[in-house]
Amino acid sequence: MTTNKRATFGSKLGVILATVGCAVGLGNIWRFPYMVGANGGAAFILIYLVCILLLGIPVMITEFFIGRHSHRNAAGAFKVMAPGTKWSFIGYNGVLGAFLILGFYSVVSGWTLEYILQACTGSLAGKSAAEFTAEFETFSSGIFRPILWTALFIGMTHVIIMSGVKKGIERASKVMMPVLFLILCALCVRSVTLPDASEGLRFLLQPDFSKIRSSVVLSAMGQAFFSLSIGMGCLITYSSYFGKHTNLQTTAIQVTLLDTLVAVLAGIMIFPAVFSFGIAPTAGPELVFITLPNVFEQMPLGNLWSLVFFVLLALAALTSTISLHEVATAYMHEEWQMTRSRAAVYVSLGVLFFGSISSLSMGVLSEYTIGGLNFFDLLDYITAKIMLPLGGMLICLFVGQRVDKKILKAELTNEGTIPFYFFNTYAFFMKYLWPIAIGIIFLNELGLLRWLTGE
Ligand code: PHE
Repeated sequence: MTTNKRATFGSKLGVILATVGCAVGLGNIWRFPYMVGANGGAAFILIYLVCILLLGIPVMITEFFIGRHSHRNAAGAFKVMAPGTKWSFIGYNGVLGAFLILGFYSVVSGWTLEYILQACTGSLAGKSAAEFTAEFETFSSGIFRPILWTALFIGMTHVIIMSGVKKGIERASKVMMPVLFLILCALCVRSVTLPDASEGLRFLLQPDFSKIRSSVVLSAMGQAFFSLSIGMGCLITYSSYFGKHTNLQTTAIQVTLLDTLVAVLAGIMIFPAVFSFGIAPTAGPELVFITLPNVFEQMPLGNLWSLVFFVLLALAALTSTISLHEVATAYMHEEWQMTRSRAAVYVSLGVLFFGSISSLSMGVLSEYTIGGLNFFDLLDYITAKIMLPLGGMLICLFVGQRVDKKILKAELTNEGTIPFYFFNTYAFFMKYLWPIAIGIIFLNELGLLRWLTGE
């Protein structure tokens, strides 16, 4: 497979928006607010920001290095950089992980389409909190409807992937990301102008340090990884489409800042509204699908706000499903020497299969569990709690232990044309500190730390 005919993103803006699209997703708008709610508000946000700064940006720069240096897909990159070694495991872990994440992510993404339809037909109006809960449960445990929406969402992703890197991914991101940002700002303004919104803002902005404990720190680190799409090969794949003039350092900083901004704005959009209507901020994962429609329906023009919100969620999810799909498509296209469209068809069909089973596991297949988890939760658990931190840790180890520092520096400074301040500190952290830090998250997520410390 030749690498010189490879696609690249066409512009600097395209690079940023496509990569921000990969990072910004359900993780920012659904998972972040619920984690903030469950972990005590502002104190969690503060630690999250520290994690983003110290861990997120350096690891993202490292993934960009691997992708652009090799100009290959997530698995091929390691074959180019460390031929004949076991390091390619990192890439396979990423490709498989992307596949499995899509297996549940596309189901949740499909739900957003159902809620968009409901908001359009006005059927969310006039419901009580109990009715919202019951309807969500009936819908998500059903057979055909959720699978149909999942299939439609995969179909939308497929169409964009088939259009290619520049015409598909880049163009779609250039339209969707600004729209997403505008909708988010409009919803924030609406939320903070509600009566008693200040209580929600205080929850977000005034840290209560007594709430900080090790589990909060570790959850914040895990969330930073998920939100920035680190450890899955997505950033390696996208950066393989970066041109040689792309500044990897500033791109990583810009993407991280925008991703964080969206997460914080999502908090500002959700919590003032939740407090204003006297709903518990600790609602958990159902915050977005049960609590929020309930909040919106109590506002004037409720249906419209619900519609706008679920369109926002669908857009954010779509730019992430594209990036996950691309990881597997690029891998099959380049490593298995098949055409891009054939690779995309296989990936979509595979994801539809996993998606259908994980959707059914919320209903008819719910009694089939492994370790108490149904298939949907199992995919979530295996990817977010095992494959992602493992990938992140190994990526740091790979660059810290295996890559020649001169090559690393040359790539990150565009052959010495841009500066990299604190390069030695960065290289030292990659080699020792981050693998250990991420190893700790990993052990904690698996519950092994508690077992080791006997807590
Ligand atoms: N970062 C995405 C989100 O916040 C999720 C994701 C994880 C996407 C890993 C790609 C890879 O929703």
